[in-house]
Amino acid sequence: MSKSGTFYSSSLGKKAIMALSGIALFGFVLVHMLGNLKMYLGAESFNHYASWLREVGYPALPHGGALIIARGVLIVAVLVHIWAAWQVTRQSRAARGQRYVKAHTVQADYATRTMRWGGVIILLFVVYHLFHLTWGTVHPDFVHPTTLADGSISAQAYHNVVAGFSVWWVSLFYIVANIALALHLYHGLWSLFQTLGWNHPRLNPWRRRLASAFALIVAAGNISFPIAVLTGIVS
Ligand code: HEM
Repeated sequence: MSKSGTFYSSSLGKKAIMALSGIALFGFVLVHMLGNLKMYLGAESFNHYASWLREVGYPALPHGGALIIARGVLIVAVLVHIWAAWQVTRQSRAARGQRYVKAHTVQADYATRTMRWGGVIILLFVVYHLFHLTWGTVHPDFVHPTTLADGSISAQAYHNVVAGFSVWWVSLFYIVANIALALHLYHGLWSLFQTLGWNHPRLNPWRRRLASAFALIVAAGNISFPIAVLTGIVS
């Protein structure tokens, strides 16, 4: 097998692939949350941002072109991330039968299970979220973007979010999914720092603080949106 083939098939190689795709996905959820904060600046600012996402790069790219590229990168990152997680799970299951991995602790088992189930919940959430706020299929009052006479795009994302989160159980689902996302980000970032080699007793408290801070910032921002709609802060 070639050197790169050996690297990919090793457990470390797969963890590195999981870490790289994880960085891309983490970057997306952070930027997505920061962009959504525009909701607090009002309908005009939020809708303008949603329209801008479809117009950015024009005329070098067609309308929606940058969005299609970003979606492509995102889909590849999700598929690679799931594939690497699946492979690492298979390898650790196979290794468990061998005697030298007896040191597998209860804590590591708990974290691994949290990651697996958290990943499944997040995936189900993202599928629902796309049908809800991107395509509007499962949204009771969705307004699709329209192209105006001057060629610009008018998006109604603010209305879609407010009407969507006004249904309490939809908001509750978003909140639960974002708690799962926070746990996933926390454990994921903690492991990512380990994969990057930051694994020294003196660095570990900082690893924990950084992982907690990033996970909390993303979760707090995301959870604030349904709460803001349900309490009438955003209406
Ligand atoms: C409460 C928190 C969230 C709000 C308010 C929100 C809001 C939105 C809105 C309004 C859109 C449609 C954008 C548009 O078409 O103009 C969207 C798209 C999307 N969101 Fe979220 N989102 C949230 C959380 C998340 C999370 C946690 C994830 C991932 C784990 C996520 C992943 C996506 C994806 C993949 C798209 C599709 C992007 C595209 O290709 O157009 N969202 N979100």
